[in-house]
Amino acid sequence: MYLGIDIGTSAVKLVCADSSRILSTSSVSIKTSSPKPGWSEQHPDLWWQATRDALGQISGQVTLSEVKCIGLSGQMHGAVLLSRDLRPIRPAILWNDSRAARECDDLRQALPQIGQIAGVLPLPGFTAPKTTWLKQHEPKHYAQLAHILLPKDYIGLRLHGELGTDTSDAAGTMWLDQTSRGWHAGIAEATDVALDWLPQVYDGHSVVGSVTPQAATETGLKPGTPVVAGGGDAATGAVSLGATEPGRGFVSLGTSGQLFVADRSYKPNPERYVHAFAHTLSDRWYQMAAMLNGARPISWIGGQLRLSEAEVVALAETVSGDRVPIFLPYLTGERSPHGDPHIRACFFGLEDSTTRADICRSVVEAIAFCFADAAQSFGDTIEELPELAAIGGGSKSDLLLRLIATVTGKPIVRSTGADAGPAYGAARLAACGDGALDTADLALQPPTSDRFEPADMPLLFERLARFRKLYQAVSLAE
Ligand code: XUL
Repeated sequence: MYLGIDIGTSAVKLVCADSSRILSTSSVSIKTSSPKPGWSEQHPDLWWQATRDALGQISGQVTLSEVKCIGLSGQMHGAVLLSRDLRPIRPAILWNDSRAARECDDLRQALPQIGQIAGVLPLPGFTAPKTTWLKQHEPKHYAQLAHILLPKDYIGLRLHGELGTDTSDAAGTMWLDQTSRGWHAGIAEATDVALDWLPQVYDGHSVVGSVTPQAATETGLKPGTPVVAGGGDAATGAVSLGATEPGRGFVSLGTSGQLFVADRSYKPNPERYVHAFAHTLSDRWYQMAAMLNGARPISWIGGQLRLSEAEVVALAETVSGDRVPIFLPYLTGERSPHGDPHIRACFFGLEDSTTRADICRSVVEAIAFCFADAAQSFGDTIEELPELAAIGGGSKSDLLLRLIATVTGKPIVRSTGADAGPAYGAARLAACGDGALDTADLALQPPTSDRFEPADMPLLFERLARFRKLYQAVSLAE
């Protein structure tokens, strides 16, 4: 049996699986704090506590001492800033934090070629600009800095005591040279980071360490259980769907959103803020449009209207038409395709007659429109957009998948276990690290349960055109 641990933004999720199917899952919610506008933080010890709680939950269904190998997955780009004694200096600064906007402008000026090296232009969500911000705004914390990890790697540290990461998470820092898959000394220097602060980089299925006696006491896992490097949640989501094979793709509808297509070579397209990143397997890269707001606007509007996510989507199904407002879903700014940390969300076209159902419909449509923009931003870096699998909480909505299929012009399939995505991918990497699977076996695709074809919805395309015009108008007004 293999264990996948996914350090998500809204929850820590676990999957126990054998080499071909999911045996059991558990999940423990975590909260994000935003002490100032545009800030997004979680304390790394919160992840460790949630991991222990989730292990406690799953131990009611499986025998943890039978886990043969553990794989890690996690939210990408977060800066886990550690002192010499391996303790967090401050809460981690997350992928959807926009405080380091000025540092990104400076970095772009200092290294004009950075997009070609790092696979994307600097944006505040990435790890590197956050350390420059730390130096300028929290010099006392910067003075203590001795190690930098990504979120899942902190859980690795707590489990096995080593400082390591995998290529896909390293790719999201802006310090990785995507071609050579090693740290880039010039970018590290330009962002005030010593190379020896950065962890060793492994392939996702390589063993980094094994569970220490102390971690075993804290978790119920067996001491000595090997832990593989795993991957950032985009890459582990891909592994869960067989999107390690070039040309395969998926949409992820979690707190963030992704349109992902695997590739056999590195094809940077930085101007459209498409991320060209190293995959977690050694001879693979991927193109990814990453949207900061994913399916999160559904839970956001649900929170405001006191509706569950399922109720928001059910209400959205009851209306359509021209009088539904247009919503820009940029609650935390946007990455692909706008690269705009300053944009914020808005409704346009509210009328006296606008109902809760209209509002819900406009929110669900907006999520689909972001995927239309994402597909467009790939340009000629992919031959053709493939049929797409869907994962993440938002993939439960038939309406949303139908709308995304329509605006991208590609069928969307829902796979079994879609909700467990990245944690299951991490468990598969663990099976690979243990030798039960070969890297070629990771191309296996899970069975699909539903299929959504593009529909004939001319009005939706008129509304998409208005959505795009509205972004232009609002971003100019900023
Ligand atoms: C990808 C991204 C998000 C986070 C959180 O670039 O920022 O997917 O990994 O899920």
